[in-house]
Amino acid sequence: MTLSPRPLRSVVVGLGSYLPSRILTNEELAATVDTSDEWITQRTGIKERHIAAPGETTSMLGEKAARAALADAGLGPEDIDLVIVGTSTPDYTFPSTATQIQAALGMTRGAAFDLQAVCSGFVFALATAEKFLRSGSHKRALVIGAETFSRILDWNDRTTCVLFGDGAGAMVLEARESEGSLTERGILTTHLRSDGRHRAKLHVDGGPSSTGTVGHLRMEGKEVFRFAVGMVTDVVTDAFAATGFTAADLSWFVPHQANRRIIDMSAAKLGIAPEKVVATVHLHGNTSAASIPLALSVARDDGRIERDDLVMLEAVGGGFTWGSALIRW
Ligand code: ACO
Repeated sequence: MTLSPRPLRSVVVGLGSYLPSRILTNEELAATVDTSDEWITQRTGIKERHIAAPGETTSMLGEKAARAALADAGLGPEDIDLVIVGTSTPDYTFPSTATQIQAALGMTRGAAFDLQAVCSGFVFALATAEKFLRSGSHKRALVIGAETFSRILDWNDRTTCVLFGDGAGAMVLEARESEGSLTERGILTTHLRSDGRHRAKLHVDGGPSSTGTVGHLRMEGKEVFRFAVGMVTDVVTDAFAATGFTAADLSWFVPHQANRRIIDMSAAKLGIAPEKVVATVHLHGNTSAASIPLALSVARDDGRIERDDLVMLEAVGGGFTWGSALIRW
């Protein structure tokens, strides 16, 4: 027996997403809390967000996104041997949302687990799947970001409830032999960071082992903003250093969609041209771990992202956690 004769690379072979049908506009929010479309638009760029229906859970959103990604790949659940779900709003404390999606898809083989890195969840899940595939232990992974943040919002707190939405996105990765060149398709490099000292700035004030409740999202918005741009640029710079690419080489920059001002300031600081920035925050709000695959789906489906494009993903989330992934699409 021999180990893999050539290095393995994780190639994106499928992408899909799902948004709940209910759209909640800024105007509707202004009727229930002391806010306005003008304030939300100016400070965040958000115009509307999708909200899961009563009884519609994170695993249900994730399953729909997963089915769309599998159809896009021309594969079935039987072709997948790894499912990783980035989520901070699981259906249950346990079992994992990933195993619920696995069961809903009719998969009985492989391994499925959740990964909790808040808004960086998709990038952390992608980086984890990439390492599994590169090791040769697994062949095809479903990487899912799925969230129902509407369930952990304090709908009386205008400083947070206007910012978030629900949704899910999924990607199918396949391990393929590689020459190791930067022009070959696949994930080229990933960079993950975290710093737990910042918990208080962005957290949920409940949990099974602390309060025994689910809790609500609490955020010091200004503080998060202050750190966000620096974190984004750190990990993107790490990806450039690892590959030798520069901002000019990128085809697309697909950042976590929290706030249009953070996105634009980060791109400007990195020297990424505005026309290369994919932004969907106006349509989805902040969907946490789902935001990047949702944005990718929009830009791929409208024809912007094409095969062989160089795509930089980046996310920042509670913890703090932050990370980047550079993909030859
Ligand atoms: N409508 C109207 N007024 C509001 C609202 C609202 N929805 N929310 C706050 N205000 C008021 C405040 O009370 C304050 O009033 P005051 O001056 O009388 O005290 C005023 O608006 C300014 O509030 P600030 O918090 O200073 O507003 P800021 O310009 O910082 O914008 C925001 C707030 C949008 C939250 C911004 O700080 C931000 O986007 N931060 C980053 C948040 C983020 O990206 N979070 C996601 C991280 S990812 C994750 O892991 C979940």
